Amino acid sequence: MRNVKIALLGLGNVGKGVWKILNMNKEELKKRSGYNIEISKVLVKDINKNRDIDVPKEVLTNDFEDILQDNSIEIVVEVIGGIDPAVDYMVKSMKKKKHIVTANKMAIATKGNILLKTAREENVMFYYEASVGGGIPIIHGLKESLTANKIEEVIGIINGTTNYILTKMTLFGLNFYDALKEAQEKGYAEADPTSDVEAFDAMYKLTILSSLAFDTIVSTDSIYREGITNIKPIDIEYAKEFGYVIKLLSIVKEIDGQLELRVHPTMIPSTHPLANVNDSFNAIFIKGNAVGDLMLYGRGAGELPTGSAVVGDIVSILRNRQSGASRIDIKEENNIIKNMNSIISEYYIRITVKDNPGVLGEISSIFGNNNVSILSVIQKGKRQEKVTLVFITHSTIEGNINRAMEIIQSLKDTEKIENIIRIENL
Ligand SMILES: NC(=O)c1ccc[n+]([C@@H]2O[C@H](COP(=O)([O-])OP(=O)(O)OC[C@H]3O[C@@H](n4cnc5c(N)ncnc54)[C@H](OP(=O)(O)O)[C@@H]3O)[C@@H](O)[C@H]2O)c1
Repeated sequence: MRNVKIALLGLGNVGKGVWKILNMNKEELKKRSGYNIEISKVLVKDINKNRDIDVPKEVLTNDFEDILQDNSIEIVVEVIGGIDPAVDYMVKSMKKKKHIVTANKMAIATKGNILLKTAREENVMFYYEASVGGGIPIIHGLKESLTANKIEEVIGIINGTTNYILTKMTLFGLNFYDALKEAQEKGYAEADPTSDVEAFDAMYKLTILSSLAFDTIVSTDSIYREGITNIKPIDIEYAKEFGYVIKLLSIVKEIDGQLELRVHPTMIPSTHPLANVNDSFNAIFIKGNAVGDLMLYGRGAGELPTGSAVVGDIVSILRNRQSGASRIDIKEENNIIKNMNSIISEYYIRITVKDNPGVLGEISSIFGNNNVSILSVIQKGKRQEKVTLVFITHSTIEGNINRAMEIIQSLKDTEKIENIIRIENL
């Protein structure tokens, strides 16, 4: 049995998961990879920090050069996160002919071209299964198992934090802030939750999924992004009344040769499998022209689930190294991105108006004049100063909605356009 030395960059949640799995499943991993995998060095920021894991002191270092200059280390596992210094460390490691495994969605989504180009030039392997969906084997699925298909759409719940918050709001009637607080207390949300609740995290992951599913380079700038902070308990209640559930969906579809790329809160039928993906779970729904509909479901984060994906990548590298079967495809940015104004969707629109005679008729005719056909309308509150109007539209072009809303906004009886949520009748 050969020995292979690897290094971990980072010993946080994911790093600890990797360490634990490599010890917990040592014998299985020997059999499956053909190697005894030894973590010979672990890079951390603070070597004196108290850690709830038993890692020998001599393995820890806070000097990246100890790893870079050690030619016996063949695989570098980057689980620091962020861009700086993670990207630099990965590039330098590849230039020293070290293979890379990373869980870093932000680095791949924004610096993927540099990373993959370096991997190809240096003839090393670069794996990133854990970057999307934690323990769910979606990257391998798209790259290998589904390669026979032309993918038509990928729709995912790929941010566990927002899914946890929306689940609490839906099942227990919590408002956004109380649900966020609970998520923070349980360790599902960071102290600064911006990346999750404003959907940056989901945007990075969608960039990676879209590039793989549609064989192209997708830039994060081409993704429409809207977070969940404006979702109110009343929107969740109306959604229920109409038979929907609100989820933060990451959507990519190819329609008439153009890519629709968007992350936003979405109403979906409560009977769809994605509607029942609750708590911090993730799920990715894929439509392929051969496989049909497919859904992958599992833990999108956490020490061991994410560690499972990382260790799987380490074993893939060891296996491919033996068979010589590794190839990095460099893709080109050859896509046309659909303008959000031209996407077609159904819409939920909630407006507060002054309760004056004729206001509903006036708004309805503005919708009509802008080719927005109304499927149903609810008016709540009577003989009060202000009332709530809720509209559900038929399918229409988003530009029509925007034009109508601009006029409705300017009416003297309109108090506030409270929310507009797209509906996907999956
Ligand atoms: N957490 C998850 O469930 C999850 C799921 C999927 C993907 N990911 C991705 O996995 C990566 C790691 O996430 P995480 O949750 O494990 O992060 P984390 O808990 O914050 O751990 C980061 C680790 O990196 C070390 N580190 C940070 N900056 C460093 C620097 N400049 N030099 C050396 N070491 C440094 C820290 O050292 P100290 O310990 O000394 O502070 C810590 O051990 C991220 O890219 C994340 O997006 C995470």
